Amino acid sequence: SGRKFCVGGNWKMNGDQKSIADICKTLSSAPLDPNTEVVIGCPAIYLMYARNLLPCEVGLAGQNAYKVEKGAFTGEISPAMLKDIGADWVILGHSERRAIFKESDELIAEKAQHALDQGLKVIACIGETLEEREAGKTNEVVARQMCAYAQKIKDWQNVVVAYEPVWAIGTGKTATPDQAQEVHAFLRQWLSDNISKDVSASLRIQYGGSVTAANAKELAKKPDIDGFLVGGASLKPEFVEIINARQ
Ligand code: G3H
Repeated sequence: SGRKFCVGGNWKMNGDQKSIADICKTLSSAPLDPNTEVVIGCPAIYLMYARNLLPCEVGLAGQNAYKVEKGAFTGEISPAMLKDIGADWVILGHSERRAIFKESDELIAEKAQHALDQGLKVIACIGETLEEREAGKTNEVVARQMCAYAQKIKDWQNVVVAYEPVWAIGTGKTATPDQAQEVHAFLRQWLSDNISKDVSASLRIQYGGSVTAANAKELAKKPDIDGFLVGGASLKPEFVEIINARQ
């Protein structure tokens, strides 16, 4: 497809100095497919620590960042700060940010545009809940979430979309390769109709939700799946097998 396979590990709010050193050691000593781009989403407080321990070809992502550069926003970090300490990516719009921290489509899109303006690459997450899927609203929901991004994002070059059905996150209920491909194909068509044919052809769409070493290879065969966003399994040595799923 010409789209470089891209695998993100989202550690979420997990890890300590010892366990992070162990994971970084595993990633440093394992043979990683050079045709896969790898990004680690690390808790903010450990970003500099992880940067020093990760192989230099592995990208580093914040898991959130606010929509302005600096100011009176107690507890927040900015894309400028992420850049300053050597992170090159940020994950935005994760379903946990949406559901637990009540982030709106609009706020997430504003964060995405600001992060891009500051020179970060963005993993822009979307995905439907079980209730929405069962009501037959999957396409409607992901289109609404994409619309919100599209109202703010002008240049998609540094964006990767992560499609993560909420019912598959941390549940062990992975979407089947066909279920994932169906939504990815819908998103590809949506991009073609609403952004451009170029963006549709070049934008990478990751699948996320209970990806493991056991199911990654089959998912990776689907034509519109360009990588993964991995939670739980990214904390384990099997993450290496997921990175190498296309070998
Ligand atoms: O960002 C990652 C996703 O939320 C997937 O998490 O692999 O633990 O299901 P999971």
